[in-house]
Amino acid sequence: MQSNSWVPLFPEQASSFAWQVDYLYFYLILVSVAFSIPIVLAIFYFFVKYREKEKYATPDEIHGSIMLETVWSIIPFVVSMTIFLGGAIIFYNQTRVPAESMEIYVVGKQWMWKFQHGTGQREINELHVPVNRKIKLTMTTEDVLHDVYIPAFRTKADVVPGRYTTLWFEATKPGKYHLYCAEYCGLNHSGMGGWVYVLPQDEFDNWLAGGGSNQTPVEAGRELFTNKLGCASCHAGGESQRGAKLEGIFGTDIKLNNGQLVKADDEYIRNSILNPSSQIVEGYQPIMPTFKGQVTEEQLVSLVAYIKSLSGNAGNTSSPMSGASTSTGTSSNSTITNTTVPTIPKADRGNTNSGLSSNPNAPSQRTEPSNTRNR
Ligand code: CUA
Repeated sequence: MQSNSWVPLFPEQASSFAWQVDYLYFYLILVSVAFSIPIVLAIFYFFVKYREKEKYATPDEIHGSIMLETVWSIIPFVVSMTIFLGGAIIFYNQTRVPAESMEIYVVGKQWMWKFQHGTGQREINELHVPVNRKIKLTMTTEDVLHDVYIPAFRTKADVVPGRYTTLWFEATKPGKYHLYCAEYCGLNHSGMGGWVYVLPQDEFDNWLAGGGSNQTPVEAGRELFTNKLGCASCHAGGESQRGAKLEGIFGTDIKLNNGQLVKADDEYIRNSILNPSSQIVEGYQPIMPTFKGQVTEEQLVSLVAYIKSLSGNAGNTSSPMSGASTSTGTSSNSTITNTTVPTIPKADRGNTNSGLSSNPNAPSQRTEPSNTRNR
């Protein structure tokens, strides 16, 4: 690594907010030094000045000083507020992911990092990104907690089992930068790392064009959705749609059957696949089996990417719930009492059952107790 940073002993500043972090850090050092040195000097000065000159001396009485007390209240207040404000600004910058970011999926695993680009390119322990582009990492892990840490970008974020975390950066200098795992994750934690390669845009395009052309996450997700997992048997549009509508939902607020509104984000989609009964869309029944244990984290990432892609070209956003509400109403006075049975008009029942059995991966036991898997 080159070290043409203006800060000695520090990693290079290679991201758009690296300098902010360094300024804040130096401000903290400055404040610490500015207080520590006078305090130590005062200690030595008082050693001498107030040394014991006569036995059992009676000290003069001391009365309060408004001036002194005001000063030693206001200065620390100003200092601590500037630390707070500086930290808050940087925190805000680092946690608000710009909408135009290029998304890359990250899956941590003992003990490697797996990356997948929107074009399908996969990498292990290496991440290629273009310079001067905002990059968003959507991250999860197959096993334990890990933590993505790229010192030259002055950024890090935990990678947590069972959820998506995000991190974003904009690399400002082409180069090769260390990537670490910064959360102790077992025997080879210290070896769990790699390199981030920041390339000029044209070199990045070349890199992306080369190499085995894999399925993109969206394509892989579509295949899982329509074939392997059989999600389409309930979620594809049409008259017999029994699962919640997926087109056009991403980024919108979804109304649940308990009246709650939730934002349809990556986490919501993921949770709906793994813990379907924990968030039931208004007007639907908890009939969906969990897919926990049947999909890997990488497959989940693909499914999420595919479902997000359905919102890119949302066709009919009008009343996605109306059809299902009607069918729920129809069945409410019918004889169906088991809530795990799809409540649809009787005319469609044969269709329903064939739909379910056509899912080769559907568990034979579909009576997932509702809400036991709430997190
Ligand atoms: Cu992964 Cu430490």
